[in-house]
Formats: sequence, structure tokens, C-alpha cells
Amino acid sequence: MELAGRTALVTGAATRIGRSIALALAGEGAIIALHYRHSKQEADETLSEIRRLSPHSFSVQGDLSDREQIEVVAASVIERGPVDILINNASLFPVEDRFFTFNMEQWDRLWNVNVLAPMLISRRLFVGNRSGAIVNLIDAGLNRIRCENFVYRMTKAALKEMTLMLALELAPHVRVNGIGPGAILPPAKMGPDGSTIRPDGDRAAGLFDAYVQKHVPLQRPGSPEIIASNVLHLLKQDFLTGVILPVDGGEYV
Ligand SMILES: NC(=O)c1ccc[n+]([C@@H]2O[C@H](COP(=O)([O-])OP(=O)(O)OC[C@H]3O[C@@H](n4cnc5c(N)ncnc54)[C@H](OP(=O)(O)O)[C@@H]3O)[C@@H](O)[C@H]2O)c1
Repeated sequence: MELAGRTALVTGAATRIGRSIALALAGEGAIIALHYRHSKQEADETLSEIRRLSPHSFSVQGDLSDREQIEVVAASVIERGPVDILINNASLFPVEDRFFTFNMEQWDRLWNVNVLAPMLISRRLFVGNRSGAIVNLIDAGLNRIRCENFVYRMTKAALKEMTLMLALELAPHVRVNGIGPGAILPPAKMGPDGSTIRPDGDRAAGLFDAYVQKHVPLQRPGSPEIIASNVLHLLKQDFLTGVILPVDGGEYV
């Protein structure tokens, strides 16, 4: 797939991995619809950087834990013209997420952001045999069964299944692939009110480094740029669909 001149919606693209993916796509000449929720200032900064590469890019705000806002985000992007590429990156990862302690508000938020939004936006964008490509950000951690991050893991497992189902459902017009990031950045966590708490400086970095040294055979973390270049690979390679690409430094070998 030639990326220049295509329109790409990247959800949660103000910061971190989503930002790198949006910048990499803009660098290939794609027009970016940059979605954000709370990070307005970062979204404005990222958009002005993107516009130097791709001047027609624009931003769209919306809370994807709210079903109506999911529809509004999709509709307001389509209003600007057809979309060729969808990167479902926005995600929630709660501070506290164990089987006996999660609450139903948390359950609803996670399923809406991590599964319902990718599903409804995919449906709106690619109805009527419109051609294009979707990349879903999943999690390499699904390759090992664990009890922690209970609801998060269930939602990412559903997103993985949906990626493979849509690869069949939307063929031959739309290719649908996924990336399974491993240890890329110290995690941002969802607070009790659904907002994102960024990892706290040195302490989070220290814990993350220790984790990487112990669990990642390559003994270094990935980076948002590495994820972005793998997203570009999945988009450019026209014979790839239904691929979930682990990008984890061998963590789950
Ligand atoms: N970081 C890692 O090492 C890692 C590892 C495994 C998998 N992943 C996956 O890779 C992707 C990117 O990771 P990341 O760490 O960069 O993600 P992140 O920082 O945790 O979240 C990305 C964005 O999601 C948006 N978001 C959260 N709740 C939302 C809501 N209710 N409505 C709309 N947007 C919402 C936030 O936007 P605002 O800031 O604008 O509110 C946030 O900036 C995610 O899908 C994640 O699960 C990452």
C-alpha cells in the first residue's frame, strides 16, 4: 500500500506510541486525523509537528468510553473525507485490575475503549466495500496466561480475536493486522475516574528497567519509534492480513 495521500485516523495519538505512529505516517505523506481525549496541549503540539510533514492533517477530540462519542469521532472524521487507514491505539490499563476487585464502571470503560470503539469505528469507516487497512494495538503479554490485569487482558484478547475475524470479514478490500507490543514504555495507568495517570518519572523508569533486564532476552526496551516502523511495515506489505506481530525483544519466546 502506498501511504502518500492516504487519510489515516490514529486514536490516542497525542502522546507516547500513538504520537510516534501518527508522525511516522505523516512522514510517509499520509493525512493524519489525530484523535485525543484529555491531552489537548500535547495533541496541539503533535499536530503542529505533523502539519510540517502533512499540512492537511487535523485533530478530533472524543472520549471513547462513551458509545455516543465513539460515533461522533467516527462521523466527524468521515465528514472531512474518506478514511483509508485506521490505527486503533487508544487504550486503558487500570492501576487496580484483579478478578475479585474490579468494579463494573471499570469493566464498561475498558470494554468500550479497548474493544467497542475499534469495532464501531472500523464498521463506520469501512462500510460498503471501501478499501483500506486497519492495525490494532494489542499486547504481546497475551502470549502467556497471567491473572493480573484481569479486565485489560480480556479486552485485549477480544481485540486480538476481532483482528483475525475482521481479516476474513473485510477481505479482500481491507487488510486487518495487529501489533503486540512488549515492554515499550513504562505503563500509563487508568485512575479510578477513568483518566490516564502518566508513569511517575524515575521510580517508574527504575521499575521498568529492572523488569526489562529480568524478562526481555534482548535486555533493552522497545521504543514508540520501533512500534511505528512495524505499523508502517504491516500497512505497506499488501500480502499481509490477519497477522499479529509481536514486537517484544523475545520476551514471550
Ligand atoms: N506502552 C507499552 O509498553 C505497551 C505494552 C503493551 C501494549 N501496549 C499497547 O499499545 C498502545 C499504545 O500504548 P501507550 O502506552 O502509548 O498507550 P497509553 O499511553 O496508555 O494510552 C494512549 C492514549 O489512549 C487514550 N485514551 C485513554 N482512555 C481514553 C478514552 N476513554 N477515550 C479516548 N482515548 C482514550 C489517551 O488519550 P488522552 O491522553 O488524550 O486522554 C492516551 O494518551 C495501547 O493500545 C497499549 O495497550 C503498550
